Amino acid sequence: MTATEVTILDKTFVPYITEQEIADRVADMAAQINKDYEGRKPLLIAILNGSFIFAADLFRGLHIDAGISFVKLASYLGTSSTGKVVTAIGMDANITDRHIIIVEDIIDTGKTLHEFLPEIYGRNPASVSITTFLSKPSALQYDVKARYTAFDIENKFVVGYGLDYNGLGRNLPCLYILKDRSE
Ligand code: XMP
Ligand code: MG
Repeated sequence: MTATEVTILDKTFVPYITEQEIADRVADMAAQINKDYEGRKPLLIAILNGSFIFAADLFRGLHIDAGISFVKLASYLGTSSTGKVVTAIGMDANITDRHIIIVEDIIDTGKTLHEFLPEIYGRNPASVSITTFLSKPSALQYDVKARYTAFDIENKFVVGYGLDYNGLGRNLPCLYILKDRSE
């Protein structure tokens, strides 16, 4: 085992994307959103728990008038999707006629957003876009498209920067990926 690996419960992870790479990409995304939403007052809706660190970093990079609200959805258990999306904390913000930017940690199969988007559209927002820290294009099973994606990654389980394995690893400052048994 090398010094940079981390073990969480029964699994070992190796470094995948550095803190600096993350900071640079998130700053770029914030700059793009500042440009695209200039003169508007978007409302970010961050999906808890996984997106809280990404949402905080992205939000601090916005210089336009923007608000933020949170919902808590869950569809994962361990390292695989349970296939069922549960709303643990619902939406309390009035989003009618607002420009909504959904903030997600990762689009994996796309099921979470596929199930959540009708709830958003049902409340008549002015517009909806999706920003995600990560996307696994080869795992996508639903027609969900992010307007802003920090990183496309391979179809393996990742932790860190807000993402967890069974509740642990969210505080790792960079992104780690599951180590192959053969490595
Ligand atoms: P779906 O399949 O609905 O998955 O797009 C989205 C949610 O599942 C969680 N997820 C992960 N969490 N490492 C994690 O820590 C991963 O590799 C991973 N893949 C999916 C995540 O909460 C996301 O919102
Ligand atoms: Mg999540």
